[in-house]
Amino acid sequence: MIAIRSFRPDDAPRVAEIVRRCLREVNSRDYPAEVIERMCEHFTARRFVELSADRHIFVAEDDGVVGTVSRDGHKVFSMFVDPDSAGRGIGRLLMDHIEALAAAEGHEHMEAGASITAHRFYLRRGYADVRENESGFGLTYLVRKPLQRSEG
Ligand SMILES: CC(C)(COP(=O)(O)OP(=O)(O)OC[C@H]1O[C@@H](n2cnc3c(N)ncnc32)[C@H](O)[C@@H]1OP(=O)(O)O)[C@@H](O)C(=O)NCCC(=O)NCCS
Repeated sequence: MIAIRSFRPDDAPRVAEIVRRCLREVNSRDYPAEVIERMCEHFTARRFVELSADRHIFVAEDDGVVGTVSRDGHKVFSMFVDPDSAGRGIGRLLMDHIEALAAAEGHEHMEAGASITAHRFYLRRGYADVRENESGFGLTYLVRKPLQRSEG
């Protein structure tokens, strides 16, 4: 069974491996090689340990870590599922988890910077386009979804 838990520093090498595999095997269909390589250089194991001081990083665990997502308040970052485990509902579980936490904290909406690859995944979850962004990491879509206020 897939469980979502908080990132620990010893997850960092596996998390970085998943991110780089996604970038090279999935996102490379949508972005030029130099953008992919710049992102691979950015997302090192050490970088995830550093990021964990500022953002709450989660991992999905099955037989080992198979996916990750990060949250800072109502903002989603670094959503990646191992290509071998794609299409099994792991991305959905990770998003359900952080959306519920944000709703419980009283945030009224969730916001993500979606890659071209993940854009339709977010639209399918009820996110709507706010605007397009052209960053050093290439084209992304700022998407937003209203959150249901959680009871109690
Ligand atoms: C986008 C990503 C996180 C989706 O994770 P996943 O575990 O494969 O997604 P799930 O199996 O939970 O899919 C949930 C739903 O989204 C749909 N979906 C997933 N990826 C999709 C895509 N690229 N296009 C359209 N629909 C998609 C699924 O069909 C499923 O639909 P359903 O609710 O009707 O069954 C994963 O493909 C990934 O890591 N991609 C590469 C990295 C990336 O671009 N990350 C985002 C950075 S912003």
